[in-house]
Amino acid sequence: MKCQVNPRYMERLYSFYSPFYKYVFGMLLGPGRRKAFNYVSRQPNQKVLEIGVGPGSTLEFYPPKTKLVGIDISSAMIQIARKKAVNINSGSRFDFHVMDASRLDFPDNHFDIVMAAYVITTVQDPHKVCREIHRVLKPGGQVIAINHTRSQNGSLWGRIEDVMAPVFVRVGFTTDLDVIRVMKDAGLKIQKTVPCNLLNTGRIITGTKH
Ligand SMILES: C[S@@+](CC[C@H](N)C(=O)[O-])C[C@H]1O[C@@H](n2cnc3c(N)ncnc32)[C@H](O)[C@@H]1O
Repeated sequence: MKCQVNPRYMERLYSFYSPFYKYVFGMLLGPGRRKAFNYVSRQPNQKVLEIGVGPGSTLEFYPPKTKLVGIDISSAMIQIARKKAVNINSGSRFDFHVMDASRLDFPDNHFDIVMAAYVITTVQDPHKVCREIHRVLKPGGQVIAINHTRSQNGSLWGRIEDVMAPVFVRVGFTTDLDVIRVMKDAGLKIQKTVPCNLLNTGRIITGTKH
C-alpha cells in the first residue's frame, strides 16, 4: 500500500516552512532545478503553468517574456512568490493563485509548458494531479517534473524507500511513489529521465502530450 499524504497537513507544513524554505530546500534541490531548465523550451511568450510553485524558487530561470501562472496550496508560499516576482526584470508576466493541483481551474489544452518541481510526491492523489497536468497541457506541449521517483520493483533500494515513506511523509514528501509510472498512466508520453541532485536521488522527467 502507498503511504497516505494528508493535504491539510502538507498545506500547514509548507506554510510553516515558507519563511526559511529557500535556505534549506533551496540548497538541497537547487541543482536539479537549474539542470531542469536546460530542457525547458526557450520560445518567448509561452504560457507556462507551475504547480506547487512554492516561494518561487524557479522564477529567475524562465526565458524572457514567459507568461507564468504559479499555483500552490499554501497561501504563505504564494505571498513569498509574489514578492519575489516583483524583482525579476525579464519581461515575463507572473500571476499566482492559491489552488489545489488536483483541481486546476484552467481550461483544457491551455498551457505550452507545465512545470512540476518537487511536488508530485507531496500530493494526496498524484494520479489525479497528473491527469490534470495532461488536461491543461496543449497537444505537443511540454511537461517537466523534477522529483525523487521510487526505484524499480524488486530492488533493495525500492524496498528501503517503501519502509522510509511514512517517515519522509512527515517531513513533506513520500518516497514510495513511482512518479514516472504515474505520469505515463495519466497519458503523458515520457521523453527523457535525467538523474540530478546529491547522489542522483532526483530525476528530471520530461514529457509531452499527443
Ligand atoms: C517540496 S515543495 C516544492 C516547491 C518548489 N516547486 C520548489 O522547487 O522548491 C512542494 C510544494 O508543493 C505545494 N503543494 C503541496 N500539495 C499541493 C497541492 N495539492 N496543490 C498545490 N500545491 C501543493 C506545497 O505547498 C509546496 O510549496
